[in-house]
Amino acid sequence: MSALFTPFKLKDVTLRNRIAVPPMCQYSAEDGVTTNWHQVHYPSIARGGAGLVIVEATGVSPEGRITPGCTGLWNDTQAEGMARIAAGIAAAGAVPGIQIGHAGRKASANLPWEGDDHIPEGDPRAWQPLAPSAIAFGGGLGRVPKAMTLDDIAKVKTDFVAAARRARDAGFQWLELHFAHGYLAQSFFSPYSNQRTDEYGGSFDNRGRFLLETLAAVREVWPENLPLTARFGVIEYDGNDEATLTESIALVRRMHALGIDLLNVSMNFVIPGVKVPWGTEAFLAPIAERVRREAKLPVASGWCIDGPHVAERVISNQQMDVVMMGRAHLADPHYPYQIAQALAQAEPVKVLPTPYAYWLSRYKGPGTASAQ
Ligand SMILES: Cc1cc2nc3c(=O)[nH]c(=O)nc-3n(C[C@H](O)[C@H](O)[C@H](O)COP(=O)(O)O)c2cc1C
Repeated sequence: MSALFTPFKLKDVTLRNRIAVPPMCQYSAEDGVTTNWHQVHYPSIARGGAGLVIVEATGVSPEGRITPGCTGLWNDTQAEGMARIAAGIAAAGAVPGIQIGHAGRKASANLPWEGDDHIPEGDPRAWQPLAPSAIAFGGGLGRVPKAMTLDDIAKVKTDFVAAARRARDAGFQWLELHFAHGYLAQSFFSPYSNQRTDEYGGSFDNRGRFLLETLAAVREVWPENLPLTARFGVIEYDGNDEATLTESIALVRRMHALGIDLLNVSMNFVIPGVKVPWGTEAFLAPIAERVRREAKLPVASGWCIDGPHVAERVISNQQMDVVMMGRAHLADPHYPYQIAQALAQAEPVKVLPTPYAYWLSRYKGPGTASAQ
């Protein structure tokens, strides 16, 4: 019996298996509103059999988007489109999740296929990025952000709460706070990007304050019976990894005490030019396992989980509770069906919804002159 295909229950939500589609920006929204692309993309991917589909990083405010093509959840029109997506994901049998976030100093960027760098200042599509301190990320993202005032900080927290409410009302059953990848929350916790001298910078407590306060505020409005999760980078790969891991796990313990039900373990990406071990299969799995063991909470993780057997192994080894598989789903939206076949699951077609499974259980494939 495959460990990957056992259900996973968290609060009142049960994933049909341990395979999740992580948030992946589509850069195809207009004024933060989803388009036909999203309406087709998300239910199609959910149809492929994953237990959980998390909608892409969605800005809690216009300036919180990464690019002008990113989705938002600061108005009701955006929420209406998201409600249809949540319903479409659920109709295909997956749990609908959404990631909400603020891009901080990495905001106001061109779409990846148009450069992935900051939109030049003065361009009508650009806006002023915000950050804990006026320190640019560097490289193509060289625009110096505005150091946030205490009022700015209070406003972003309010924006997170409003977006969480809209996500709840839109029918999402799994909320992921984007506290990773060098965006605003992660940049508050890192001394590289946070050199504030007030209560939001300096000590461990101060650098963690923005994340914990935001989380506590969201906890107030997100239903107790539904999973509240975060994606958080615990390692920078800058050569100072043990110290970063130890400190990050200490913060995860506090997040857990404040009501995070699961952590999506990821990387910091706060500075450019770090030595991520790309090409090493499942390189984050031992780190996810350590967070799981030391912070004593369920974890999800991903990155370079290359194939069905690796995915099965990270779950059966109890390195993580849920495995995130991103680009494999872009390559084949029915990827879980492929995994089920590779792992010789009984009746792999049962991974697919009945309107497909019924026919495919009788069909041997093109060129086989299958009778029915
Ligand atoms: C097109 C694309 C968009 C992404 N957008 C997001 C995002 O919105 N939020 C996020 O946390 N990670 C994002 N990521 C990272 C993925 O969630 C995932 O961690 C990454 O693709 C590694 O997993 P994989 O090796 O299975 O693809 C994105 C990745 C891709 C390829």
